[in-house]
Parts: sequence; C-alpha cells; structure tokens
Amino acid sequence: MTDSKTPSNRRKFLRNITQVMGGVGGIFALIPFLSTMSPSEKAKSAGAPVEIDISSMTPGTYKVVEWRGKPVWVVRRTQDMIDNTLEDNEILSDPKSLEDHQPAYTQNKFRSIDPEFLVLVGVCTHLGCSPLYKPSSNSTELGIDWQGGFFCPCHGSKFDLSGRVHAAMPAPYNLEVPPHHFASNTKIIIGDDGDNI
Ligand code: FES
Repeated sequence: MTDSKTPSNRRKFLRNITQVMGGVGGIFALIPFLSTMSPSEKAKSAGAPVEIDISSMTPGTYKVVEWRGKPVWVVRRTQDMIDNTLEDNEILSDPKSLEDHQPAYTQNKFRSIDPEFLVLVGVCTHLGCSPLYKPSSNSTELGIDWQGGFFCPCHGSKFDLSGRVHAAMPAPYNLEVPPHHFASNTKIIIGDDGDNI
C-alpha cells in the first residue's frame, strides 16, 4: 500500500518534512550571520591583507593576527636575540633559507626585512600543528644546546628564533614567512609584499 496516511508512510513523510524544514532553517540562520560580517571581515576571510599595529610592542613581546585562517606571529626581537642569531649553524637544516618556497627577503639569518621584527606563519611545516614560542636560551627543557626558538609538541620539531628548522626533524622545512611589508614604522601589512619583490 502506498497511501501516505498509513502509519509507516506518515512517519516517513513527517521525517522528510522535518529534514527539509531543518535545512531551510539552517540557510536562514546563515544569512543573518553572513550579513552581519563587515566588508573588511569578508575580505579578510577571503585572504585580503591584514594590518598589524606594532607601535606598542616592546622588545621580547609578540603578537598574533589571523591571515587566511592561519595564525601569523610578529615577534619583536631583543638586542640579545639579534646578537645571538648565528649566520650558519650545523644544527639547522636550511640556515640560509634557500628552499624555493620562501620569499627572497627571508634569505638572511634573521629571515626578516628588519632584524628587529620577525613575521612567521605559526603553523608547523610537518603536519600543521601550532608550535610554541620558547624564547629562553637558559631553559634546558628542550636540550642543553637549546638557544631559544619554537617547539612543536606534536612530533617534536624544533625551530630557531628565525623559524629555521633543526636538522633531522619531522618538519621538512623552515616555518613559512608570509608575504609582508612595512607600511610605516608602526604598521606591518601581512599578505602583500609591497616593494620587497
Ligand atoms: S606537526 Fe609539528 S612536528 Fe609534526
């Protein structure tokens, strides 16, 4: 029998109606959410450049901004961090940042446009965990030759304070430096190389 009024067909009919209404309700629930996003938020989620104000950053501090759904770190180095950054070091896998996926302005020991400011995508190049910022060279928690840097707890990859990966780590290459430029002494634009290319 195919009559929709039989108990089992009526149950199916009601279940289908409920599913359709649920879907429609979901769509209507989404529209107010999308319409409340400002034009700049929509552009940001689509990957537009983001601006970060560095005027209040003191040496040793860092800030996190979101760009293309990923965390981007800006670290203001201390004079000690600058002085202790080695040009080359046998514990590093690619100390000169020669792997071709990195912007040309990373090919210096600071991997920075300005040695005082490091800009990195905070995503491990192994399987995408977010490494921890461990700047202290006095800590032996990560080995006696730890000079400060970033540590990924997922599978143990270590990076120096320029985001250069140590040799023989699960992570295959250095932390990514996103395209960026200084719009002024107090503003960095993430997501746009400016005149740096
Ligand atoms: S995801 Fe970082 S070491 Fe595996």
